Amino acid sequence: MKSTIFTEDVVPQAPDDPHYGLRAAFRADTSDQKVDLIIGVYRDDDGKPWNLPVVKKAEAAFQRDATRNHEYLPITGLPSFTLAAQKLILGTDSPAIKENRVCTVQTISGTGAVHLGGLFMARNLSHPPPKLYLPTPTWANHNGIFTNVGLTVDWYPYYSLETKLLDFDRMISTVRQAPPHSIILLHACAHNPTGIDPTEDQWKEIAQVIYETNLIPFFDCAYQGFASGSISKDNFAIRHFIELGIDMLIAQSFSKNLGLYGQRVGCLHIVVASGQEDGTATSDAIKRISSQVSALQRAEISNPPIYGAQLASIVLNTPALFEEWQLDLRTMADRILQMRQRLMRDLDALGTPGQWDRLVSQIGMFAYTSLTVAQVRELRGTWHVYLTEDGRISVAGLNTRNVTYCAQAIDDVVRRIG
Ligand SMILES: Cc1ncc(COP(=O)(O)O)c(C=O)c1O
Repeated sequence: MKSTIFTEDVVPQAPDDPHYGLRAAFRADTSDQKVDLIIGVYRDDDGKPWNLPVVKKAEAAFQRDATRNHEYLPITGLPSFTLAAQKLILGTDSPAIKENRVCTVQTISGTGAVHLGGLFMARNLSHPPPKLYLPTPTWANHNGIFTNVGLTVDWYPYYSLETKLLDFDRMISTVRQAPPHSIILLHACAHNPTGIDPTEDQWKEIAQVIYETNLIPFFDCAYQGFASGSISKDNFAIRHFIELGIDMLIAQSFSKNLGLYGQRVGCLHIVVASGQEDGTATSDAIKRISSQVSALQRAEISNPPIYGAQLASIVLNTPALFEEWQLDLRTMADRILQMRQRLMRDLDALGTPGQWDRLVSQIGMFAYTSLTVAQVRELRGTWHVYLTEDGRISVAGLNTRNVTYCAQAIDDVVRRIG
């Protein structure tokens, strides 16, 4: 008999992921009043996962098509999907596409795109690699992903605790001071967790500073369609940066906007600057970048999964289904908006202390409530209402049956625990 070499000294216990820990606590809660406002997944008014009708049609089309199969994809993914995804995020008339300045690789959803982009930067930029700046706050996984690939993470202010708004001036001045070639992570739309995006004018100013200071923007786009309800409006920032003709990266996820969460459908796009003297220099750069990204992808996952990409490809490439998808997106965005309004109205009716109009001024799947950790814990303990300890609620978890209950719960904890 041998004893394991994986002793506690060798493999210590890793801390639980706070989000997944909360979800486990929610599942274990036996109260029939419990409400899940934890994770960013869309739910219908019955609190059920929503299979988008358009995705069901794509699945039916997939079943009917005798030529489809489950073979391995190329390392960079399904071409009909990656090309359509490129057009969706950059715009069909994008100068970057026309000038062949984009390298696109299918990834394990948005998480995989953020990871592969980070890994590419860590391996290929100067030694030591540049710093990567994240907004405070940001998606809970960003820091872990970028630290894991060996990038040094720094932070720029994003949300002001005093004003409860975008901390624009401090954001700009921190970004301006970042050393050249630093990477600036930006949420393309529907910022997670605050639900606060820069205005178009602010985006232009951010772009100008990034341009002048020689920084590399890395857009994380996990909610295209959820900010405004329109796919084409939600890529304003990306299109504006593209017009500047600078190097940039984009992580694109289809988890939320196609409801393909578990299928892991996404892309990484690397766009090269437009300033090369001739087209040969651009195509050389794209060829080299493609070769490096492919080598990284090959060593990590060999090739990406096929099924979800096929469904996305059918939706994106079939005009009638593409149109129908816009309606499905509107359905989700509108229901979330109604829930924002309902919660605000119910809190106003109760006279709950606080500034609840921000529930409707914020956008996307999340509302950043400014509830304290103590209040969040009380909501969980007394009312069985679950949200993350930063006070973020996933508005998609609200519905016509639980929203008044949630308002009463919030009213109670706000009054009792100041
Ligand atoms: C800002 C942001 N980026 C990336 C992701 C990754 O999502 P997925 O890997 O499901 O595409 C999420 C998911 O919540 C997110 O909120």
